[in-house]
Amino acid sequence: MSHVPAAEPAAEPAADLDARRDAGLAAGPDRDDDRDDRDDRVVGVGPHPLPWPDDPRYDPELLAEGDRRNVVDGYRYWTREAIVADLDTRRHEFHVAVENWQHDMNIGSVVRTANAFLAREVHIVGRRRWNRRGAMVTDRYQHVRHHATAEEFAAWAAAEGLPVVGIDNLPGAVPLETTELPRRCVLLFGQEGPGLSEAAWAASQTVCSIAQFGSTRSINAGAAAAIAMHTWIVQHVPASELPPSGV
Ligand SMILES: C[S@@+](CC[C@H](N)C(=O)[O-])C[C@H]1O[C@@H](n2cnc3c(N)ncnc32)[C@H](O)[C@@H]1O
Repeated sequence: MSHVPAAEPAAEPAADLDARRDAGLAAGPDRDDDRDDRDDRVVGVGPHPLPWPDDPRYDPELLAEGDRRNVVDGYRYWTREAIVADLDTRRHEFHVAVENWQHDMNIGSVVRTANAFLAREVHIVGRRRWNRRGAMVTDRYQHVRHHATAEEFAAWAAAEGLPVVGIDNLPGAVPLETTELPRRCVLLFGQEGPGLSEAAWAASQTVCSIAQFGSTRSINAGAAAAIAMHTWIVQHVPASELPPSGV
């Protein structure tokens, strides 16, 4: 008699999980899935030794159970609200915007990098729902704003007095390597395939390209976003304000 293994419960498809998370239905609080990786390695710190710090920024549940989230050591055991409030005191003056017409997988990566480089806000232009995989829950520490069209986004930027710097390598773009990025600006990225839409290009006061030397037409939007944000950092953060290495 052949042995028929018991059926494994089907893994939840990522798209369904995203949809449930959008609806606030994904299982567990953020500390359960706010991990740097999804394998069996334990990240973070265990329960805090007694006595506990007497400070409202600390979360009693994290102090008791340990903090396995993907946060820098200085924020260990802090509530999410306290972390966001602290980040808000020192955010940089650049914003990041990304077009979302096709549920591009890169958007999560753009959001994670925007968190790492402390962008003021992230703007999703197009569809409201975006693919959160790759963001690794970093969006919860970020202010994310939605604009239904590139025209709406352009009107918002104009009202804020923020120049829009498109990032794409289509003809007419100027080299990012030799462009001085404004201190206050929005860096706007396109999607896999089409790149910046015509409306997004029209919304941009300048479009910058990242120099390439190989055979591929482009790098992925997540990589391009990291390069552009880091270019802003190199141009606007003095060496004396660079944080020490280590997390
Ligand atoms: C994969 S690209 C696709 C579009 C590209 N224009 C093409 O012709 O293949 C998607 C997005 O990544 C960014 N990107 C990729 N490579 C870039 C480069 N070399 N310079 C500037 N942006 C780039 C842009 O924001 C672009 O809209």
